[in-house]
Amino acid sequence: MSKPFEQEGYNRDASIVNPGGQGELAAGKYSGHPRPSQPGEPFLVGEAMTGGYGKHGPDIITDCTITVDRGEIAVIVGPNGAGKSTAMRALFGMLNLREGDVRLDGEDISALSPQARVVKGMGFVPQTHNIFTSMTVEENLEMGAFIRKDDIRETMEQVYDLFPILKDKRSQAAGELSGGQRQQVAVGRALMTRPKVLMLDEPTAGVSPIVMDELFDRIIEVARTGLPVLMVEQNARQALEIADKGYVLVQGQNAHTGSGKALLADPEVRASFLGG
Ligand SMILES: Nc1ncnc2c1ncn2[C@@H]1O[C@H](COP(=O)(O)OP(=O)(O)OP(=O)(O)O)[C@@H](O)[C@H]1O
Ligand SMILES: [Mg+2]
Repeated sequence: MSKPFEQEGYNRDASIVNPGGQGELAAGKYSGHPRPSQPGEPFLVGEAMTGGYGKHGPDIITDCTITVDRGEIAVIVGPNGAGKSTAMRALFGMLNLREGDVRLDGEDISALSPQARVVKGMGFVPQTHNIFTSMTVEENLEMGAFIRKDDIRETMEQVYDLFPILKDKRSQAAGELSGGQRQQVAVGRALMTRPKVLMLDEPTAGVSPIVMDELFDRIIEVARTGLPVLMVEQNARQALEIADKGYVLVQGQNAHTGSGKALLADPEVRASFLGG
């Protein structure tokens, strides 16, 4: 079996989430002084990240560390407003980090814009506004890859193999699709860049339990091709069941970290976050 979403080189895709191309990251601290790579460290590392919105906004995440190993599904759970999406944005370069750094495959990417991080191999599906509703399904996938210079048809077929309903509906406006189908478009769009790590912010938001299970199965399938996945999830129990590693964030800080299994068995995590 080939590994369809792994890539040899890299693409030059831009991201739909920040089309202006302006990361919020302040110049200065990180410019020109990349950290040396750490041999053997996880593929994606956000280390001791502290930061918030705007230049003077309060810190939303504090000393927050998130790592994703090669071949694993890592999951971030926690209460509403805990800073899960903010942590994802920090990893993706959409946040003004005051402390900490982000490394991808050993390279310090803290100073890079979101677009440059996509070029480096990050595929990010934001929590909201993650598709172009007035465009067709196929146009959404094309947009995902629009800066790629090579032939995108093979990748598109791989996305259609993963989500066959998208092939049936490829000429339909994405906004006409069901919630679960839209999320498939969003994930498919991110896969069109042939990322080296896939970051999903609440991929199952607003879908039925059956559709959630289906989406999780597809995400597991993608992860089995060798593509590491980092996922924020509201459905904490179900997400931890498929997670190699889980993070519980509370008020922007790491509250609990462990294997999905260990967190599910942890009495404190169960009582506070999993409904007993
Ligand atoms: N763009 C923004 N500007 C200013 N503050 C923001 C912004 N986005 C989020 N916040 C604030 O940051 C805090 C954490 O929000 P965040 O969206 O990261 O939480 P979350 O854990 O993803 O929540 P949810 O489970 O509801 O998605 C909240 O207090 C929120 O009001
Ligand atoms: Mg969120």
